[in-house]
Amino acid sequence: MDQYESRRARLLTSTRPMPGFEVVGADGPWLHRADGSHVIDGSSGLLCANVGQNSPKVRTRIEEQFTRYTFGGAAVVQPHIQLELMDRLCRAVGRPDDSVALTTCGTLGVEVAVGLARNITRVRDGKQRGDILTSSLSYHGNSALTLALAGNHARRPRPEDALGLGPAFPAPYPPTHGHECGRCDASCADEIAKEIDSRGAQNIAAVLIEPVNGTTGGAYVPPDGYLRRVSEICRERGVLVIHDEVLTGLWRTGTALASHHWEGCEPDMVILSKGLGAGYTGVGAVLVSPEIAPLIRHEDADPLPAMGTMATHPLMAAACLGVLDDLEAIDMAAFTARGERLGAALRALNGVGPVQDVRGLGFLYGVEVTQGTLWPLMKAAEARGVFFYPFTGAGRPTSEGLVVAPPLNSTDEDISFLTTALCEAVTALNRNS
Ligand SMILES: Cc1ncc(COP(=O)(O)O)c(C=O)c1O
Repeated sequence: MDQYESRRARLLTSTRPMPGFEVVGADGPWLHRADGSHVIDGSSGLLCANVGQNSPKVRTRIEEQFTRYTFGGAAVVQPHIQLELMDRLCRAVGRPDDSVALTTCGTLGVEVAVGLARNITRVRDGKQRGDILTSSLSYHGNSALTLALAGNHARRPRPEDALGLGPAFPAPYPPTHGHECGRCDASCADEIAKEIDSRGAQNIAAVLIEPVNGTTGGAYVPPDGYLRRVSEICRERGVLVIHDEVLTGLWRTGTALASHHWEGCEPDMVILSKGLGAGYTGVGAVLVSPEIAPLIRHEDADPLPAMGTMATHPLMAAACLGVLDDLEAIDMAAFTARGERLGAALRALNGVGPVQDVRGLGFLYGVEVTQGTLWPLMKAAEARGVFFYPFTGAGRPTSEGLVVAPPLNSTDEDISFLTTALCEAVTALNRNS
């Protein structure tokens, strides 16, 4: 082992079964490698670098705030920059009157949303509502609570670590439910009604759900009408709906929120994170609808679960404002057309060589491949100048593939490069198999 390798082994981060590369510069979706070559980031980092790297707008915002002041607790220093962020963010996602809790990452956003949902339903109903229901194909973060709640067993292999919690209903996707219902449709939401009714609605605070699946299954899209039915079922029973849009929020799926693809499924709360900080800062934001937000400040309510030392860090807010500046500068008509071209190019690969399925929408796709071909395909793609996020997810045996999710401000040329390189990699693998 050389010196780099032995030091690398002591740094406890995720690794992959192929070498990483050294980066000496970056611009938009492109990383410049130490060997002088360039590689395009087809994964937006970890599905977060949504406006690319080295953004002048983000840099300006951070510099301006840096010279103003770099820290101030919101209880002491008037949180003007956080208020500006709250207003911009709420308007951007079409929920202008929501209240907002800020956190430092997606996991903490989910934790705060869980705490707020319990506070709200308890003060409203005077009962001990507490259960949070999640689906069998879900990921909601890496704290003990969120790992225990979610359906991603690969991240929590030992059943005893579920803390007696665990997913409560099947996700409406073929690998986890299709074999039972034949073909998933909106009626799969009735499984949630059954679960709520068998536990007793008075014990349940919320259903927590990713409106479009992220990396656990590889960009599964729910059947039409499913999310609306989930909302109806919950509303009828006084259960809140929380959409985890940590990954999908802020145009990743082509719309400001993934739920905007369907009518009638506005949630009570939305959690945003990755696309808001866009890799420039850690951040999470929980948006709470005006119908329920006043209950959080009710005199009988429990204390706010939303206060961490860094939650209202001004440099974090500044970076997020720069990201919103970048997102709002995108020509949305061209962006939509580009997302459709990306989807069409990827769907054309369906059935070619190892590719078994292509799904997704906007700038988020799952390219599922036959078992054992994920890493050879990653290598072949990287040799052609593009890399992706690998998923090893749902079903038995577990499926595997690439999540294709380039930065949202990638150009036509960037997208053509990416799809051509992937197509060549798939073809090369097909030839060699
Ligand atoms: C849907 C979803 N929720 C929550 C999280 C956790 O966010 P973070 O890694 O920022 O804590 C993730 C991260 O991948 C996610 O995809």
